[in-house]
Amino acid sequence: MQSTAIYPGSFDPITNGHVSIIKRALRIFDKVIVAVSENDAKGPLFSLDERVAMINQLGLDRVDVIPFKGLLVDLCVEKDVSVMIRGLRAVSDFEYELQLALANRRMNRDVETIFLMTDYKYSFLSSSMIKDMARFSGSIDGLVPEHVKIALQERFK
Ligand code: COA
Repeated sequence: MQSTAIYPGSFDPITNGHVSIIKRALRIFDKVIVAVSENDAKGPLFSLDERVAMINQLGLDRVDVIPFKGLLVDLCVEKDVSVMIRGLRAVSDFEYELQLALANRRMNRDVETIFLMTDYKYSFLSSSMIKDMARFSGSIDGLVPEHVKIALQERFK
């Protein structure tokens, strides 16, 4: 039987930190579904379609990229997946992630959350930081995939 995990996030935009988590998850699971949250509350820079397209452009094998609205646990049931992946960058992520994992377990005990440690090279990184750096023409070389860098430069031209 194929093992599948869901990796949810806003991905506004995807960074090399996220890519590293996806690649490491693929060593554990046969397939990874990257679930891109609408997350309008965060006022995203890129539309849901743009964020999905940027991840698809990576052309990763065994990866499905889907947009989603609503609850993660409902998505897990819909896709018949019982494992969710989250990345942990630093101790500061732990409190929020614990809250998220416990809320999800409260709603559906069959869904487990697995945490992968973010590569130390990207542990300081966030999508907001990347956007700030790009907005003020700071170098983001090596922090995001090349096509994401171009999309950011276009957006802030
Ligand atoms: N490398 C680099 N950056 C990383 C990272 C990594 N490995 N892992 C996380 N980040 C950054 C992201 O870039 C993001 O930065 P930003 O805040 O500057 O944009 C930040 O960490 C957190 O982002 P993300 O992991 O995408 O979490 P989120 O809080 O934006 O969204 C969802 C998490 C998708 C689970 C949530 O928002 C959602 O939409 N849930 C649906 C409703 C639900 O089911 N809620 C749970 C129960 S109530």
